[in-house]
Amino acid sequence: MTSVAESPVFPQHIAWESAGTSRIPFMSYTSEELHRRELERFFYKSHWCYVGLEAEIPSPGDFKRTAVGERSVILVRDADGGIHVVENVCAHRGMSFCRERHGNRKDFTCPYHQWNYSLKGELQGVPFRRGVEHDGVVQGGMPADFKPADNGLTKLRVATRGGVVFASFDHEIESLEDFLGPGILRYFDRLFDGRELRLLGYNRQRIPGNWKLMQENIKDPYHPGLLHTWFVTFGLWRADNKSQLLMDGKHRHAAMISTRGQMGKAAQVTAVASFKEDMKLEDPRFLDIVAEPWWGGPTAVMTTIFPSVIFQQQVNSVSTRHIQPDGHGAFNFVWTHFGFADDTEEMTERRLRQANLFGPAGFVSADDGEVIELSQQGFEQKPFHRTLVELGGTGVADADHMVTETLIRGMYEYWRGVMEA
Ligand code: FES
Ligand code: FE2
Repeated sequence: MTSVAESPVFPQHIAWESAGTSRIPFMSYTSEELHRRELERFFYKSHWCYVGLEAEIPSPGDFKRTAVGERSVILVRDADGGIHVVENVCAHRGMSFCRERHGNRKDFTCPYHQWNYSLKGELQGVPFRRGVEHDGVVQGGMPADFKPADNGLTKLRVATRGGVVFASFDHEIESLEDFLGPGILRYFDRLFDGRELRLLGYNRQRIPGNWKLMQENIKDPYHPGLLHTWFVTFGLWRADNKSQLLMDGKHRHAAMISTRGQMGKAAQVTAVASFKEDMKLEDPRFLDIVAEPWWGGPTAVMTTIFPSVIFQQQVNSVSTRHIQPDGHGAFNFVWTHFGFADDTEEMTERRLRQANLFGPAGFVSADDGEVIELSQQGFEQKPFHRTLVELGGTGVADADHMVTETLIRGMYEYWRGVMEA
């Protein structure tokens, strides 16, 4: 007789079939215990996490509430223009005191007992700290040796580059540049080259799937030309496009670089089921694509920065996509669409129109949200099983074509090492 604990349906420990990562146990997506460990090791230690764009907090006192992993934090600009990230947990009794998504403040006050903090997170006011006086006798108050300086908000270390803000709870972390590595940094700088950014708007969605599936989705050049009718039919992303796959030295980050082909209908493309011969746009302006000088060749560069963010350039649509896990089986996904301060009004309109491809109801991205949800359902029902990630072999290396799952194998090679799983 087997007990539930021994049953293959409910494994207690993750099991890999080999030393490589071409077969990934479903359990790496279904275990709450592994999820807690991922948060500690990837989101709260040794990794820079994306928190936003400087353009979201242009003026002194501007703030944005966001998240690092599952911890709520506030990105804020102080009176001198400095950028800070503090944890949204009151030093008194722990209340998550900030509820607005955005705003402008001179300081932060927790509503519960009105402890007051500077924009840098320093405690500067404690009501009744010295008690109350009654008949000449002081009653209550904080102990005489209470030091406000020791009771501020938790401050994160901050790094900015090209208008993008990253933060870390780990103050011993390497520089952002070392974290990204030179190859990925080159593509980061291509998009964020110091031009002033202009915020265009947000999409927010909650996807009921493990957060790593979103990283995998943008490390997977296999699916876009098959799953996405829009990409195949209108030639935005096809398997025969000129392309390159690039990783950092640790294989955790990646860039998928693609150059859009001519609109010719190659036989191998028309044979793809999602190619719809007679699908036409009601409004051709969705594909009013204008090449920009800074592209320098590629028409799409999708960069995954592990673990927290995706930087997207797909023709004229540029955005950041922030991954905020919520338990092992869901994540909040925040898209920030932007442009550049020197864009013409016409270009801004164009970027906004092309943004319709993306976000929760995007012509392309709605498909991704759905396949992530359904993948998670498959994992949950069969947690003893594993995925097959063997397209292009079982090894990990940069590539100059898209018919490989090497970037996913690379990410799990890194994941296995850090997780000791
Ligand atoms: Fe914030 Fe008491 S919990 S002031
Ligand atoms: Fe996709």
